[in-house]
Amino acid sequence: MNKLNWGMIGGGQGSQIGPAHRLGSGLDGAFSFVAGALDHNADAGRAYAQSLGIAPDRAYGDWREMLAGESARPDRVDLVTVATPNATHFEITKAFLEAGFHVLCEKPMTMTVDEGEQIVRTAAASGKICAVNYGYTGYSLVRHMRAMVARGDLGKVRLVVAEFAHGHHANAADADNPRVRWRYDPAQAGVSAQFADCGIHALHMASFVTGQEVEKLSADFASCIESRVLEDDAMVNFRMDGGAVGRLWTSSVAIGRQHGLTIQVFGETGGLRWAQEQPNQLYWTPVGGRVQIIERGEANLSPEADRASRVTVGHAEGMPLAFANIYSDLAEMISAAKQRRPADPAAALCPTALDGLRSMAAVHGAVRSASNNGEWVDARPPMLRD
Ligand code: NAI
Repeated sequence: MNKLNWGMIGGGQGSQIGPAHRLGSGLDGAFSFVAGALDHNADAGRAYAQSLGIAPDRAYGDWREMLAGESARPDRVDLVTVATPNATHFEITKAFLEAGFHVLCEKPMTMTVDEGEQIVRTAAASGKICAVNYGYTGYSLVRHMRAMVARGDLGKVRLVVAEFAHGHHANAADADNPRVRWRYDPAQAGVSAQFADCGIHALHMASFVTGQEVEKLSADFASCIESRVLEDDAMVNFRMDGGAVGRLWTSSVAIGRQHGLTIQVFGETGGLRWAQEQPNQLYWTPVGGRVQIIERGEANLSPEADRASRVTVGHAEGMPLAFANIYSDLAEMISAAKQRRPADPAAALCPTALDGLRSMAAVHGAVRSASNNGEWVDARPPMLRD
């Protein structure tokens, strides 16, 4: 396979998520990192891109310059990752899709449901891939959970319990720290803080693992640090279109919790539990039986798990390798499109703009519900209602 060309917007020096994208995109040798507009400061972005080996004429000062520069090249980037702050995702993603680029957008994909629907329509009209980085779905054992549910190991799914609770914004003395404060300021963060930032990962994972979509929800939001306008803690109850009952807790004031993403699925004939901080073990309990620990990389797992697993059993794989699985799905889909052949259906596990849109509808639904004493609301985007 010829190498694909990859570029990134955002993810500059010192950013949180930029390194994981570079590691993930580079892992399998499918992509060459050839272009970037990496920083909100043009000079810093150009200098950092060149320090990472990007040629000076492709180390851009901003995304518009990159759009113009790459559009004019015969060897233009095959995939653009958008890893800038949330409020910029819509404008950048839409512009690159319209110009005929495949895009991987960070979550949340947009700030509003209407913008989310526009991205879905733009991607469909362009025929280009718009993926959304729910990167934790790339873990081998998350894909194995999904496969176990799909092949019926649990029987009908009764209940899914998802958590994404950390304690990194729990210090009240930090409330005025500029690096924390913007996250709870509606002018910069939008309608929701913790649910839109972390809760949507857990909610998307509930859908990914069960194969069901969220239909309606009821939310309770709290600002445990009272000066915050937006929520730092949320409990969301939901119902899924296949009949599963859903419970979700997300928090940024849960002192002692680190990353805190866990998912549990309970069916008629067994239960599963996976935690992102111990991603190489999956706990499986058949009804009436003992707890069994499934190890990533062991024999006789599902093809989905094997495809997403790289090093031998016993050697821990972590988050950048989960991102690498999103990139390997994208590499397969983009290569198939270039070669005018059908893509390996396994690559279709990669989250798409539809997932990004569903998350936005859930965020806005949860905000509506929370401001109406937990009233149950339709969580589906208008374009996906019956
Ligand atoms: P950050 O603040 O650490 O870094 C943002 C980077 O983007 C900086 O290098 C900044 O200079 C650059 N930037 C800002 N505006 C820009 C513009 N207009 N053009 C080019 N570069 C620009 O932010 P962080 O935490 O890395 O988050 C970025 C995005 O990634 C957010 O949307 C966030 O929600 C998402 N994220 C996703 C995670 C996941 O697990 N999928 C985890 C963490 C963040």
